[in-house]
Amino acid sequence: MERITTIFVAVIVMNFLLFPCSSRGAAAPLTLSNTYSVVEYGAKPYGNFDSTQAFVAAWTLACGSIKPATIYVPPGRFMLRNVVFRGHCKNSAITFRIDGMLVAPSDYNVIGSAGNWLIFEHVNGVSIYGGILDGQGAGLWSCKRSGGRGCPSGATSLGFSNSDNIVISGVTSVNSQMFHIVINGCNNVKVQGVRVSAAGNSPNTDGIHVQSSKGVSILNSRIGTGDDCISVGPGTANLWIENVACGPGHGISIGSLGKESEEAGVQNVTVTRVRFSGTENGVRIKSWGRPSTGFARHILFQHALMTNVQNPIVIDQHYCPDQNNCPGQVSGVKISDVTYQDIQGTSATQVAVKFDCSSQYPCSDIRLEDVRLTFKGKPAQASCTNADGTASAFVQPQSCLTL
Ligand SMILES: *[C@@H]1O[C@H](CO)[C@@H](O)[C@H](O)[C@H]1NC(C)=O
Repeated sequence: MERITTIFVAVIVMNFLLFPCSSRGAAAPLTLSNTYSVVEYGAKPYGNFDSTQAFVAAWTLACGSIKPATIYVPPGRFMLRNVVFRGHCKNSAITFRIDGMLVAPSDYNVIGSAGNWLIFEHVNGVSIYGGILDGQGAGLWSCKRSGGRGCPSGATSLGFSNSDNIVISGVTSVNSQMFHIVINGCNNVKVQGVRVSAAGNSPNTDGIHVQSSKGVSILNSRIGTGDDCISVGPGTANLWIENVACGPGHGISIGSLGKESEEAGVQNVTVTRVRFSGTENGVRIKSWGRPSTGFARHILFQHALMTNVQNPIVIDQHYCPDQNNCPGQVSGVKISDVTYQDIQGTSATQVAVKFDCSSQYPCSDIRLEDVRLTFKGKPAQASCTNADGTASAFVQPQSCLTL
């Protein structure tokens, strides 16, 4: 009897060590941590009940604790207004485990002028595993599409600002009012297994936007929106994008750069194993046609598959919406050391490769290697303005780069 009890206790202890908060699907690392379930602080999974205060209460406890902490969101629809999850925390290991869905208020005006719906600021070591974020943006999109007067500009669904050591894993974001996920001023961020989905005609609903950040990776994700699948802003370095499916949307874009006259550059970006389906662009670098200290260099676009993409490879340095404030249309942004390697597939327009660079700072060290793009079953065309570089291995359309 005593031996049986001992074994029984041993099994319970082992279970606790292996599954400290019971096994709840999403693959969060196993740590012994304090768990704060939002329902214990008053959250209700009814969709129209405002659970904001409960999430703030759970966050305040997790942030103030010195032990690793887990904030748990069970299944159900939890409605939240705009929230700032603010650091600095005592804790550098806070995990959100979300089995349920977070929904924005159905009236888009409630969060529409806040800039962000859910934003983390000045945090270190925050991980989000699982969950669906529904920004309920469709009402705002139609307001914007029908003229835009009186519509708020809209909120980003999930933001991390001035934060380090962040993981966003297995999260689904749908129907954001504006950008879905924004990484701004961060170091060491891993975004993986994320799904982003918004209507192909929804305005400014970029999937993932990265700026002023170092060491961000975006892996194994599927993004379809009405704007860029991934956009990369000034001040980004050491960005790695791998195994992403993009479409519908405007493709993967470095830029717009050079909007400001004093601007940090973008460097060391790798985009590998990406698939574009029916998108407006494939891999793009885009800058305003106006003076700037900005630059883009050490960029590698590799192993891309294009299916019916309007502009599979494009550098556009003449961006100037409404033709306003672009004196002379000359971009100050210097683009150099950009490699396109193993880019295959079909273009939806005749010109599949377009380098339209600055006359003041021609693009330099552009390399095309093993490129094969067709239009209606025939070789597509390339167009170059102020673009220097080389082509090697098989390149079709034939390169128009100058040495
Ligand atoms: C470029 O970025 C990658 C991560 O994407 C990093 O591993 C590598 O060290 C960086 N290279 C340089 C020269 O900083």
